[in-house]
Amino acid sequence: MAANLLFKGGKVVTTESTYRADVAVKGEKIVEIGTSLKAGAETEVVDCRGKLVLPGAIDAHTHLAMPFGGTITSDDYEAGTRSAACGGTTTVFDFILQDFKEPFPKAIKRRDKLASEQAVVDYSFHLAVKDVSNGLLNTMEEAVAMGVPSFKVFMVYDFGVTDGVFYQTLEHSKKIGALIAVHAENNEMVNFLTAKYLSEGKTSAWYHYMSRPEFVEGEADVRAIQWAKSLNAALYIVHLANAQGAAAVTQARAEGYPVFAETCPQYLNFTSDVYKRKDGAHFVCSPPIKNKASQRALWDALKRGDIQTVATDHCPFLKSEKKWGAKDFTKIPNGCAGVENMYPYMLSEANRGHITFNKAVEVCSTNVAKIFGLDHLKGAIEAGRDADIVVYDAKKRFTVTNRAMHGSTDHTIWEGAELKGYPEATYSRGNLVYREGKFYGKKGAGRFIKCKPIKLTSPELNDNK
Ligand code: URP
Ligand code: ZN
Ligand code: ZN
Repeated sequence: MAANLLFKGGKVVTTESTYRADVAVKGEKIVEIGTSLKAGAETEVVDCRGKLVLPGAIDAHTHLAMPFGGTITSDDYEAGTRSAACGGTTTVFDFILQDFKEPFPKAIKRRDKLASEQAVVDYSFHLAVKDVSNGLLNTMEEAVAMGVPSFKVFMVYDFGVTDGVFYQTLEHSKKIGALIAVHAENNEMVNFLTAKYLSEGKTSAWYHYMSRPEFVEGEADVRAIQWAKSLNAALYIVHLANAQGAAAVTQARAEGYPVFAETCPQYLNFTSDVYKRKDGAHFVCSPPIKNKASQRALWDALKRGDIQTVATDHCPFLKSEKKWGAKDFTKIPNGCAGVENMYPYMLSEANRGHITFNKAVEVCSTNVAKIFGLDHLKGAIEAGRDADIVVYDAKKRFTVTNRAMHGSTDHTIWEGAELKGYPEATYSRGNLVYREGKFYGKKGAGRFIKCKPIKLTSPELNDNK
């Protein structure tokens, strides 16, 4: 049960400004922000002198306990959200993989049963679309009414949809207040290049990248955007990792189309050279991490506001599972862990002067809440919103090791990364869930967050350009 709290003496960070203020919390909500607020008799004071007070991050992209790549991701809802909490993330959007023939509302109920029993911080869902035949398209509307208005279509993988189905969902989304997200890669090219390299005996993790290089993703981004433009439908490109795609998003937005994009810390921090490393398999994800030019283009687009969100694509597998591909890169389960590293990494980049703290808050929290329809509850330190608060120590130095992480995975691609600054404490709806390396949350305390229907008709999130 959340107590009354007073976060005293810190600097509050919003997308627009950083200012000295106290933050009063009653139960689960922020109730007042002001200078020299007084603590009542029943109020616990959190000393924030010398610290930043930030909204908890919202990770728009996780895969918890998800069957994929011949196994199931190694963090369940408890481990994944515990890890999130310990990295300052207080809400996760997890992907529900629809079963063939399954109505979307049924898929939501199936996964919410698991999540509600296990999650330690709040969560919501996106639906990953496999099947809209035989009336299933019409069940999207019910999902929107249940508070899940975002749907991802895949242009790749064996369950990916056809171009026609993608177009159909885009068209339908406009009528029902839904947002279509897309995993954009050219499936034909992936299949052709994969077969070619395998037949030449080129089987190492490097050929995961070589079979899905820059243009394979960029061309699909261009196509997906073209279709969205033809309908003037909103489109959200997930895990954008290449320069050509970033340019296409930028151009569409300049023309006034509601096209949005997310990138991930792994694309901002690493380059495709990681696939030449001995542990290259650990970095195998799709789309793969690209070259330096793409990395630069992603940072530039993020700074300009043409990429609006940073999310993790947290999709962890064990080392033993990653080894399945030692002699054939196609057998490596695709995905990396990262839910505990996103906010610390982006804030560290801010602390180093690469971006502002305001930008880190914007892309990791505020914009996510705005785009996915939960800005009535989350995404800012503001009276009336949930007390999802991170106290951040900009002076702390932190070296990432898997031992210091709080999920269930046995390795991290971030091993050895030196961070400047680190979250000191995380509060989820006024409850302490993390402080100085220790987890204090409770299994099952996380709640499903019902998102509002989404109507993104223009690139309004571009206004900070
Ligand atoms: O490699 C990845 N990204 N695995 C998760 C599935 C997806 O495409 O997001
Ligand atoms: Zn994807
Ligand atoms: Zn993903």
